[in-house]
Amino acid sequence: MKAIAAVDKSWGIGRGGGLLFHIPADMRFFRETTKGAAVIMGRKTLESFPGGKPLPGRLNIVLTRDPNCAPEGVTVVHGPAEAEKAALDSGRPVFVIGGGEVYALMLDRCAECLITKVDANAGADAFFPDLDKAPGWYLAEEGDELEDNGYSFRFTTYRRK
Ligand SMILES: NC(=O)c1ccc[n+]([C@@H]2O[C@H](COP(=O)([O-])OP(=O)(O)OC[C@H]3O[C@@H](n4cnc5c(N)ncnc54)[C@H](OP(=O)(O)O)[C@@H]3O)[C@@H](O)[C@H]2O)c1
Repeated sequence: MKAIAAVDKSWGIGRGGGLLFHIPADMRFFRETTKGAAVIMGRKTLESFPGGKPLPGRLNIVLTRDPNCAPEGVTVVHGPAEAEKAALDSGRPVFVIGGGEVYALMLDRCAECLITKVDANAGADAFFPDLDKAPGWYLAEEGDELEDNGYSFRFTTYRRK
């Protein structure tokens, strides 16, 4: 499975329960990459979506410790192994889509991370694990610098050593 995230210069991913940036080109990349896939997320990330609704056209797998949490249109799971099994059993490509707790929880099970690096310091309160400092990971691909909505960013891929 792969993780997909957009991070600032400090590997920040969110603040106050929402995203740090609005970058339409990155949203498009996310939509196209995860189309038809199984996506694994934390309960807080699900709640951050418009109306708390799952992403259309994908199998939405949501991690929670709450046995009574049963949002409509999602597969609820209660631990990382259960999340991985539900995703792999679907036969679809699998992406871990956040947030901070769930990236940290599922990273060991990922082979690749698709990281959009945004050239900004956004003052985040949720983070992706710093893969430049994480043993076992290396920066395998780095795209050209792009611009959208006033942000400079690039698409990168980290892989396991
Ligand atoms: N930049 C990006 O690419 C990106 C992507 C996604 C999200 N985000 C941002 O990330 C932030 C949310 O991240 P977050 O870390 O606060 O929350 P999160 O990872 O989305 O969800 C955390 C929740 O997941 C559940 N959970 C965590 N570990 C679990 C385990 N071992 N077993 C079962 N359930 C478990 C718990 O739900 P319960 O409390 O229900 O038990 C926990 O409260 C938001 O600001 C969002 O906008 C950014």
